[in-house]
Amino acid sequence: MEVKRVAVLGAGLMGHGIVQVCAQVGKFDVTMRDIEQRFIDNGMKMIQDSLQRFVKKGTMSEGEVKEVLNRIHPTLDLKAAVENADLVIEAVTENPPLKKSVLAEADKYAPPHAIIASNTSSISITEIGAATKRPEKVCGMHFFNPPQLMKLIEIVRGLKTSDETVETIRQISTKLGKESVVVKKDTPGFIVNRILVPALNEAVFLVAEGVADPEDIDKACVLGLNWPMGPLKLLDYVGIDTTLFISDVMVSETGDPKFRPSNLLKQMVRANLLGRKTGRGFYDWTEKK
Ligand code: CAA
Repeated sequence: MEVKRVAVLGAGLMGHGIVQVCAQVGKFDVTMRDIEQRFIDNGMKMIQDSLQRFVKKGTMSEGEVKEVLNRIHPTLDLKAAVENADLVIEAVTENPPLKKSVLAEADKYAPPHAIIASNTSSISITEIGAATKRPEKVCGMHFFNPPQLMKLIEIVRGLKTSDETVETIRQISTKLGKESVVVKKDTPGFIVNRILVPALNEAVFLVAEGVADPEDIDKACVLGLNWPMGPLKLLDYVGIDTTLFISDVMVSETGDPKFRPSNLLKQMVRANLLGRKTGRGFYDWTEKK
């Protein structure tokens, strides 16, 4: 199936980056939908800031920036966003009832041939697919943060996802300049988070136990494992709440206590210390904001 028009639902941390990659690398016409003007404005600002980084680096001209921005069509109207789309990418908050209601609505208004992909990092694709009347055309399309730079897309099969849907998303991923992997079974955490979340959690246990300071734990992983950033900085970057949510889903879906989150992670969410987005997590981000 040929994809020409893409709709991205959600203009947040992941949504804005996905919109940008689709317009910048895929050269698709993209509608970007969110529920309030301030979220749209914030998404557009993040896209402009990111595009300026490419200009500064010398890999993009101001003319190309204009072209990319012209391909992006922001809207508050879900029906208008999806009614002409060949591919809908859902990137709303990790909240199962919300995701399911957004997918059901997208299913109602998107053309029958359209694929509906979800950027969820933890929620079952089979469950999300069941909220639509086209579960064979629903799959996971999991980008990594920041989507503008991270090379991977995890393509996740739900129980009813068709081979054709997986193949189309694989081709789109290539068109977006990404490498893809297929997660053959709809399993909590897919591949990357199954490995990453327990590792991040373990770093939080080290802080809670007072084994080392956050700076030293991060330094150890950067210099001892060649990670681009340490686990606690990465937690702040991804969001403490998002990581706790993924961890909770992994525990509840598998019943395996090895995924249980540190109590410190829960306390930080209760205290609104969510990382970069609230200005503080394991680090103070107020200056860098
Ligand atoms: N858009 C465009 N360019 C960007 C950018 C953005 N949003 N963010 C950073 N850059 C560019 C910078 O301009 C800079 O370019 P130059 O090298 O030309 O100067 C370059 O990227 C490096 O940026 P910084 O110097 O600011 O910072 P850095 O060296 O630490 O790199 C990083 C930033 C690419 C994010 C790097 O730290 C990294 O790879 N970190 C790990 C990220 C990671 O693991 N992501 C996965 C998270 S897990 C997830 O997403 C899954 C989930 O479900 C939770």
